[in-house]
Amino acid sequence: MENSLQKYIDRAEIEQRVKAMAQNIAADYREETPVMVGVLKGAVVFMADLIRKVEIPVELDFIAVSSYGASTSTSGIVRILKDLDQNIEGREVIIVEDIIDTGLTLQYLKETLYQRKPKGLRLAALLDKPERRQVNIEADYVGLNIPDKFVVGYGLDFNEKHRNLPDIYLME
Ligand code: IMP
Ligand code: MG
Repeated sequence: MENSLQKYIDRAEIEQRVKAMAQNIAADYREETPVMVGVLKGAVVFMADLIRKVEIPVELDFIAVSSYGASTSTSGIVRILKDLDQNIEGREVIIVEDIIDTGLTLQYLKETLYQRKPKGLRLAALLDKPERRQVNIEADYVGLNIPDKFVVGYGLDFNEKHRNLPDIYLME
């Protein structure tokens, strides 16, 4: 049976939210060139838009992690599939993630990257589902809070599908 998709967040609203986040980031990093670390693959679309709206110099890097378990939930076991290319010691780092759900992925990433002694470490997430949180973690920059619903599009997938949709959809 096909899953039905219902338009949830329009591309125009996404663009506004991303622009606001970019302005906040630019204001906070006037003297620094932050390393923006995209979490593959979900953050790719968001990151591509965000970096073009941040009007300060930034560097890019990517990390890929995998969590075991069902495709719509997180088991809490996280493993690095692709590590950063660069050394982040002494650097300002911003982790860029598509969505914070239980928070387990970002908690693991934050702990792991902190061990590399960055000068600072912040989180930017396009979407946040605060109701689902299992650990005490908050993003420094959030686009939109959403209820406990499964969404796809704008980088977000269900079994690797729908990442290329320009808007965000509810999946039912
Ligand atoms: P967390 O570790 O539970 O916070 O899970 C975060 C990851 O779960 C995200 O990076 C997404 O890959 C995935 N995820 C959580 N909620 C959704 C959703 O509604 N749609 C698509 N992926 C989701
Ligand atoms: Mg993801």
